[in-house]
Amino acid sequence: MYYYVFTNEVCKRRSDVPQFITAVSQRILRNSGKIAEQWSVEYQFQKCQSSTKSYQKSADPVIAYTAEHTTVQSPLQIELQKETLANATHAGMLGAPEVLTFGQNFIRSFGGKRILDIGTFTGASALAWALAVPDDGEVFTFDIDHTNYRKFGVPIISKCETTFKKIHLVEGPAVESLDKLIADGQAGTFDFAFIDADKTNYRNYYDKAVTLLRKGGVIFVDNSLWHGAVCDPARRSEESTKAIHEMNDKIYKDDRTYSALLNLGDGTHVAFKK
Ligand SMILES: C[S@@+](CC[C@H](N)C(=O)[O-])C[C@H]1O[C@@H](n2cnc3c(N)ncnc32)[C@H](O)[C@@H]1O
Repeated sequence: MYYYVFTNEVCKRRSDVPQFITAVSQRILRNSGKIAEQWSVEYQFQKCQSSTKSYQKSADPVIAYTAEHTTVQSPLQIELQKETLANATHAGMLGAPEVLTFGQNFIRSFGGKRILDIGTFTGASALAWALAVPDDGEVFTFDIDHTNYRKFGVPIISKCETTFKKIHLVEGPAVESLDKLIADGQAGTFDFAFIDADKTNYRNYYDKAVTLLRKGGVIFVDNSLWHGAVCDPARRSEESTKAIHEMNDKIYKDDRTYSALLNLGDGTHVAFKK
């Protein structure tokens, strides 16, 4: 005889299990809509995150240790991270703080002033770069829709006027916005680019960033390991995984840059324009 326990109820016959689970799940959903909704958000967050970013409780101990000895965040960054993780839908899109700190270190070390931030979300990466550039620095942050930035980023980042005013929003499909910058004669004028928007356009963003960067400029491509999926040929048929894998190959073979693919955050492909 089989006994299946689900919450505090028991099902005695194996053949009844599917029906039993459906009935109990529906009852829970009916009675606790809020809990179900919360569960769904948590589930999507975990699924999206895997264990690649340090702000996850389930982070690998080695990753947690390296992040503890890498991440430096200002009070504004801490506040924005907390607010995003607590209240934003698809909070797992939030940039890993260890990647942002590493990018800030690059910007500071070579005196970067003009930054491309492709994929704004709530503004964590734009804020990181705005804190790293000098007072006359500029961060152009691109998103198809800046609703999340306006809702979560603006109330927090605007507490520091000097930082806030360095951030310029460019709304719309980022490929078109970058093409417009190139058409406006801005090729070769940027110091640093962070690529973190839709994965299927990663190769386009990389090409346009190479064009827009000056010699010696640096590109960070976020999510380059895509929670490990790119390492498994069987999983490369999925659209985003395929796009990221092809981009990694492209950067590795690209004569226009020197590069290194790092196991930092969800994977950070770093390219230096020759
Ligand atoms: C992973 S999030 C960016 C996270 C952010 N960089 C951070 O550090 O928290 C990706 C963002 O890309 C935006 N996005 C998706 N497709 C886009 C497109 N075609 N053009 C511009 N932005 C796009 C999404 O709206 C989303 O806000």
